Amino acid sequence: MRNAVKLVMAASVVALFSTAIVPTIAVAGDAEDGKAIAFNRTKGNCLACHAIEGGSLPGNIGPPLVHMKDRFPDKAKLREQIADATRNNPNTIMPPFGKLDILTPDELTKVVDYIYSL
Ligand code: HEC
Repeated sequence: MRNAVKLVMAASVVALFSTAIVPTIAVAGDAEDGKAIAFNRTKGNCLACHAIEGGSLPGNIGPPLVHMKDRFPDKAKLREQIADATRNNPNTIMPPFGKLDILTPDELTKVVDYIYSL
């Protein structure tokens, strides 16, 4: 009897953990990676020019990255801006992260997912 109670308790603990943890990982995966790449000073280094929520010592050369879905309803346009900002503004000082292979296509996808979530 006591063992049966323990089993039920163990099963509910497992159930609790799987419902609590699994969806978080599934939803946040790429965006979390993207945040790390965006904040990394040797990768995206977006904070050199943009304020981003949770980022320390941001620069203010570019606009704060907020309300991105309102400003870029089309996610492909956001990717284009990050991959090659010179397409929208030939004189921009924002580095063309895709065109110059500063970020790989996979890293770019993760950064776009993250920025789109802001
Ligand atoms: C050297 C400075 C610099 C860096 C580094 C930089 N940006 Fe920019 N970014 C700018 C400037 C300046 C603009 C304003 C638009 C322009 O210049 O055409 C801009 C514009 C943007 C925009 C468009 C914002 C809007 O609402 O129009 C997005 C999105 C963006 N940057 C994302 C990023 C991301 C993501 C990174 C890092 C991977 C990054 N930027 C790194 C300077 C920078």
